[in-house]
Amino acid sequence: MDIFIILLSLLSSEAVKARHVPHHHYSTFTYPPKTTERYATPLNSPLTFATPFAEPFSKASSLLDPDMTYTTYSLNPDATSTQDGPYGQSAYASLWANASITYSDHPPFTTTVSPTPVPSSELVFPPALPVIPVGRPHPSKQSLPKNFIWGVSSSAWQIEGGLKLEGRGPSVLDMTGALPSTDNSSNVNAMFYYMYKQDIERLAAIGIPYFSFSIPWTRIVPFAVAGSPVNKQALDHYEDLIDTAIAHGITPIVTILHFDLPMSVLYTNDDFSEHFLYYAKQLMARFGDRVPYWVTVNEPNMQPVDNGLTNILTAHAKVYDWYKNELKGTGKVTMKFANNLAVPLDPSNSADVTAARRYQEFDLGVMNNPLFLGKQIPKSVLNTPSIKIDPLTKEQLERVGGKIDFFSFDPYTAQYVTPPPEGIDACAANSSNPLWPKCVETTFVGKDGWLMGDSSTAGFNTLAPQYVRSQLGYLWNTFRPKGILVAEYGFPSAGDTVRSLDQQRYDLERTLYYQAFLIETLKAIHEDGVNVIGALAWSIMDTNEFGSFDSRFGLQTVNHTTFKRMYKRSLFDYVDFFHRHVGRS
Ligand SMILES: *[C@@H]1O[C@H](CO)[C@@H](O)[C@H](O)[C@H]1NC(C)=O
Ligand SMILES: *[C@@H]1O[C@H](CO)[C@@H](O)[C@H](O)[C@H]1NC(C)=O
Ligand SMILES: *[C@@H]1O[C@H](CO)[C@@H](O)[C@H](O)[C@H]1NC(C)=O
Ligand SMILES: *[C@@H]1O[C@H](CO)[C@@H](O)[C@H](O)[C@H]1NC(C)=O
Repeated sequence: MDIFIILLSLLSSEAVKARHVPHHHYSTFTYPPKTTERYATPLNSPLTFATPFAEPFSKASSLLDPDMTYTTYSLNPDATSTQDGPYGQSAYASLWANASITYSDHPPFTTTVSPTPVPSSELVFPPALPVIPVGRPHPSKQSLPKNFIWGVSSSAWQIEGGLKLEGRGPSVLDMTGALPSTDNSSNVNAMFYYMYKQDIERLAAIGIPYFSFSIPWTRIVPFAVAGSPVNKQALDHYEDLIDTAIAHGITPIVTILHFDLPMSVLYTNDDFSEHFLYYAKQLMARFGDRVPYWVTVNEPNMQPVDNGLTNILTAHAKVYDWYKNELKGTGKVTMKFANNLAVPLDPSNSADVTAARRYQEFDLGVMNNPLFLGKQIPKSVLNTPSIKIDPLTKEQLERVGGKIDFFSFDPYTAQYVTPPPEGIDACAANSSNPLWPKCVETTFVGKDGWLMGDSSTAGFNTLAPQYVRSQLGYLWNTFRPKGILVAEYGFPSAGDTVRSLDQQRYDLERTLYYQAFLIETLKAIHEDGVNVIGALAWSIMDTNEFGSFDSRFGLQTVNHTTFKRMYKRSLFDYVDFFHRHVGRS
């Protein structure tokens, strides 16, 4: 018999077997019994590390400048005229007076809230979804490694509040959120600074094993500069945050600088790296034994490419070297980058491909060619007329090359890219062109007339799970890192501000976003050979997105009057996904 006919007959007999003929019938209607409620599984605690990641502070302290001093500050706005030296209480008051930031609202309490256990009524899983395979193992049974770094991320300024309390100095972000409304105040915010114990309790109760947070430079070193006093109250605060996390079974991941630069020390300051190292040493010496992952700088590529580029690279390399060679830390050190992948509008059009590659080279190549490959900044960048970036010297390349342990980045979306009508070269030659220096046009609408993905709040546009593998593949094959950490990823649903609390908590779109992203990540790992080492959801709770609470990325809601947090559905589904996909061996 013809092989084709054999196949055909096999197929048709399968089809007959598969076809289900319904038998309609009546019976007595009864409600099906309610299935037993599922509850979240708390973490095992405390967490124990086989060996510390560095010497304890009692020994590591000998690496710090012997002349440095510890102090505490309390802001008395009327004390600016007392003569008590460059770093006295009076100078601290004038630091704030000079910043001229006035908040119209004030933190309603100023002591740490004692945690209470999360009631079991808050730990009930949301209704199962019969149609969408949320949390069920991926059909191919692809799994994530046992040591996969999964959890939630945050940054201090976006959740803490209490910006003038306990000796904190002013940062460049502080003017943002000094708005005449409590609705978007950064000075009260979610009160995480005083509620961290409760927030850690909540993460542990629902089973989140990794928590990424940042420490503000100006809390630790209020005057920011090398040699100025270190704020003991702030060190004690973050020590307790780290210890509380570990006691609850949560591994801390610390970002040293997350946008909250001191007002007096910008990336462009000639001695930026000296001040940054001084501050970073305070954290690494004190907490290095307990912190396995350090992120030096968050998204330094979010600003113009020529803004302090070599200062940032030098600062990172100095901290890396000090950690590895002086402190002899055995943890990992990275820097994290913003990147929404540029996709050619028409992949068969070489001009679009060139535009997409150019976009990526500006976004990532500038810092990561040197860091990962010890290679020069891309030619597309250096050859842009009028750009204020010099090629790195051989010494600079040697200084930074290889000084990063894995790639970390914060993908939120992707975008289509095409050259401007006048062409890339004409645009590059005209530094007044609004598209200069990247000189590419971006759009979320494809050549097929369709939006790339589901819309979130304005400014964050679309999620595009179909490009997750490309995003990971680009990084993996371009910079050849040992591993890739998705350090932030998240989805602010477009309609959240007009939804009731119950509706906000039933955030199916966010669940779909995370599930799609993670299933594509599994394919990148298993089918494309990419070593993705972790994924941290942005964010632990709804955050102040730089002046507004309208883009709600949180996996928990926050009531800004009572400060009560509530888990969203997506957090349960998120935990479910990892419980079913992270291997046990
Ligand atoms: C505040 O500004 C005054 C006037 O410019 C300056 O003399 C003083 O040093 C500043 N104080 C601090 C702490 O920066
Ligand atoms: C440069 O760009 C600006 C802004 O788009 C435009 O007004 C000007 O005509 C351009 N100059 C040239 C020489 O194309
Ligand atoms: C801050 O809140 C006020 C009042 O709710 C609102 O009118 C304003 O648009 C908000 N500002 C931003 C930047 O979201
Ligand atoms: C915050 O909680 C209070 C007290 O339960 C409630 O009256 C208020 O409506 C809540 N605010 C929001 C925005 O849900």
